[in-house]
Amino acid sequence: MITPPEPLARCIAEVQQALAQPAPHAAVGAALARLVARDDWLPPAYAQPHPAHYQQYLLHADPAGRFSIVSFVWGPGQATPIHDHGIWGAVGQLRGAEHAQAYTADGTTPPRPIGPPHTLLPGAVELIGPEVHDIHKVANAGAGVSVSIHIYGTNIGTHPRHVYPEAGGIKPFISGYANGPDTPAFVG
Ligand SMILES: [Fe+2]
Repeated sequence: MITPPEPLARCIAEVQQALAQPAPHAAVGAALARLVARDDWLPPAYAQPHPAHYQQYLLHADPAGRFSIVSFVWGPGQATPIHDHGIWGAVGQLRGAEHAQAYTADGTTPPRPIGPPHTLLPGAVELIGPEVHDIHKVANAGAGVSVSIHIYGTNIGTHPRHVYPEAGGIKPFISGYANGPDTPAFVG
């Protein structure tokens, strides 16, 4: 049993409570805002960048599969492809800064940006999902490592999703997790 750090344990409990309500998305975002309001709880092993690409560590998976909490880690210059989620989610900036650009894409033409990119700074929370902006690209906006905490309405690392190449088309993908023996998920 890997006990979560206290702020994460509180967030897990708050998300569980939110999911008992009829419209949990905003309440999940509020719980995430409280989690990323301070940056003293994430063990360093869950904030290690990969030298070649961004990666994500599973922090907690709801045993019933209702949600997951993940740390996303970008090294300098790293970015995601344009991708979707297919499920509600919330992104909270913990450390560094990230540029996020929303897109519209259906695979038949190159993805088109929706409005200008915006920057997430520590403490900021953004809701994403099929009814908001489900397709986006995220890039590290700074010279150091950037870390954001994400909550999704499923076990996102096992969830079938899509990448939208800049030239057009759709590629299915399942992200998985970077966790190793030294970075087990926490059990709330
Ligand atoms: Fe995303």
